[in-house]
Amino acid sequence: MDPILTVRAAAKSYGAVTALRGADLTVARGEVHAVCGDNGAGKSTLIKLVSGVETPTSGEIVVKGRPVRFATPHDALAAGIATIHQDLGLAPRMTIAENIFMGSELTTRRLGLPLLDHRRMKEMARGYLGRLNSRLADMDQPVERLSGGQRQAVAISRALRWDAEIIIMDEPTAALGVRETAQVLDLIRSLRASGVTVILISHDMNDVVRVADTVTILAGGRTARVLRAGEVDGPGLANLIMHAGAEPEPA
Ligand SMILES: Nc1ncnc2c1ncn2[C@@H]1O[C@H](COP(=O)(O)OP(=O)(O)OP(=O)(O)O)[C@@H](O)[C@H]1O
Ligand SMILES: [Mg+2]
Repeated sequence: MDPILTVRAAAKSYGAVTALRGADLTVARGEVHAVCGDNGAGKSTLIKLVSGVETPTSGEIVVKGRPVRFATPHDALAAGIATIHQDLGLAPRMTIAENIFMGSELTTRRLGLPLLDHRRMKEMARGYLGRLNSRLADMDQPVERLSGGQRQAVAISRALRWDAEIIIMDEPTAALGVRETAQVLDLIRSLRASGVTVILISHDMNDVVRVADTVTILAGGRTARVLRAGEVDGPGLANLIMHAGAEPEPA
């Protein structure tokens, strides 16, 4: 096993509230790793530590063998970790290409003047979407005209533009119907096929067993269990999560 990311004994307190009290997470390179747990288990907090949104009270984060300390999301991005939040962070009125290159536009020079290189950005945008097997062809379409699944593809392409090796997806199917959910699961499989490591936060146990390789179950701010997704079905996983919180505290 070649871990690309290891979190050891991560703790996080907000004043008197302890959100994490010693969580561990070991993510193998190239896998889809689901993080599950009941409401309040600490999933979002753990992800905030790994994505540089919050700093741990104690504990260690190791990326590709190197201990890291992220002060900002930009630090995490520089280490190859991109997070796609539930709201996707896209600008609806802007085009697909503009969204993918938002904040990292390509320029060219014409008559000595810097200009946006729309042609190359569209070409590269098509390349990122192609890696995801997306059928989107017109990079000038505004994102507001796209379906939920297609918007996910644009958000993921934006992460690929940043050369992310680890993409964290927070509840990517929460707002989607059956068909779009299937599309998003296919996007996740395409990412894995292209060598990207995916960390998936999801409440949908059926999605998790369909796409994940490994599942970490959090309960009460701790890692309660780690299992291979093939070991359980959706109801079985839901049952494990329900009872994870009831297990006696480790000595
Ligand atoms: N900024 C904060 N200030 C105070 N308490 C917080 C803060 N963030 C999280 N908590 C608390 O920490 C605990 C873990 O929260 P967290 O959001 O990580 O859980 P979660 O597993 O993501 O839950 P959910 O499934 O509801 O999203 C909860 O009890 C929560 O109320
Ligand atoms: Mg949460």
